[in-house]
Amino acid sequence: VPPIVLLGAGPHAKVVIEVFRASGAFDVVGLLDPAPAAPALLGVPVLGTEDLLPALRRQGVEHAFVAVGGNALRQRLGQVLLAAGFRLPGAIHPAAFVAPSARLGDGALLMARAVLGTDCAAGPLAIVNTGAVVDHDGLLGPASHVAPGCTLAGNVTVGARALVGTGSAVRPGITIGEDAVVGAGAAVVRDVAAGARVGGVPARPL
Ligand SMILES: CC(C)(COP(=O)(O)OP(=O)(O)OC[C@H]1O[C@@H](n2cnc3c(N)ncnc32)[C@H](O)[C@@H]1OP(=O)(O)O)[C@@H](O)C(=O)NCCC(=O)NCCS
Repeated sequence: VPPIVLLGAGPHAKVVIEVFRASGAFDVVGLLDPAPAAPALLGVPVLGTEDLLPALRRQGVEHAFVAVGGNALRQRLGQVLLAAGFRLPGAIHPAAFVAPSARLGDGALLMARAVLGTDCAAGPLAIVNTGAVVDHDGLLGPASHVAPGCTLAGNVTVGARALVGTGSAVRPGITIGEDAVVGAGAAVVRDVAAGARVGGVPARPL
């Protein structure tokens, strides 16, 4: 099993460690974080900061993963890893469902019970969190995040770095703009402008 290092040592990193353990695809050998939550998470040591990336690459670690929940930071750190010569695999929990026609970008993450439906595309560093459903033809932009328990009907587009808050429902064909935030529990029945912050049933600007 090839080694992999994670950028990030917070709660989200714990989840990512268990996704790789469950999938068996990579052995998580260390975490890099300037302000780690603890010296080790689930038995994986914090090695230091991203300054160690060149040394790890020289030691033969080819793969890395950004285990950070914040969308803009995750995107920036993805660029750091690519510039340092790492490959960013997708991470898929074995209890997720990925349709044969769906595509997953580099460094994207599908948690347990997530569904990525027919002809969907999840961009690089996108997250489909626990139990979230992205139905057919969904497009998830780079570093976007569909939070736990969301339901995106068919043909929904989520822009780069947008967050669809936990438990939201999104009507078919809706576009959620770049950097938008949809509050927890929203029912999104109209397009959401880039950078907007909406919530409620039906969702309105907050
Ligand atoms: C929408 C959200 C971003 C707003 O956060 P915030 O800026 O800290 O807002 P506050 O908690 O200060 O609330 C501001 C107002 O918006 C309302 N509000 C907050 N979240 C709301 C939501 N999800 N739906 C409807 N109204 C909401 C509050 O009641 C409050 O109203 P008031 O001023 O009348 O009292 C946040 O509440 C949210 O829902 N985030 C989603 C988080 C999530 O799912 N993350 C995934 C992690 S895996």
